Amino acid sequence: MRDPDAALDELFETAAAARAKAYAPYSRFRVGAAARGAGGAIFRGANVENASYPVGVCAEAVALAAMALAGERRLVEIAVVGEAGTLTTPCGACRQRILEFAGDGDPVVHVMGPDGTRLAFCARALLPHAFGPAAFGR
Ligand code: THU
Repeated sequence: MRDPDAALDELFETAAAARAKAYAPYSRFRVGAAARGAGGAIFRGANVENASYPVGVCAEAVALAAMALAGERRLVEIAVVGEAGTLTTPCGACRQRILEFAGDGDPVVHVMGPDGTRLAFCARALLPHAFGPAAFGR
């Protein structure tokens, strides 16, 4: 059986490694994300900004797109690592993206507090009364 602490360490380490690949020349705010699907695999992402600012994409969006591309449709948990000393929680749009792959579950969103401690939130608590796949009977 998998050690839950080691599994979470791995998720955060993957997010931190992805963060090193971020392309954030405008905000200089680099973010990494690591998403674990129901199958156990981890998919990573980093923010990729653009000279046309709104075109940039968040780390979570990249990680979830990689997960979907691999055929995984169920998100179990996602870790997000931003700049040290900041609390980087997913933006509103990424909360919506996270719930798209929640199924009938409630993915855990792991983040770092400003002091480096780990915090965990339930995705459904981060976006109450969300519009989602259920509106389409899914
Ligand atoms: N960003 C993310 O990638 N994820 C978050 O959870 C918060 C914000 C990015 C978007 C932009 O490239 C930069 O951080 C500053 O907002």
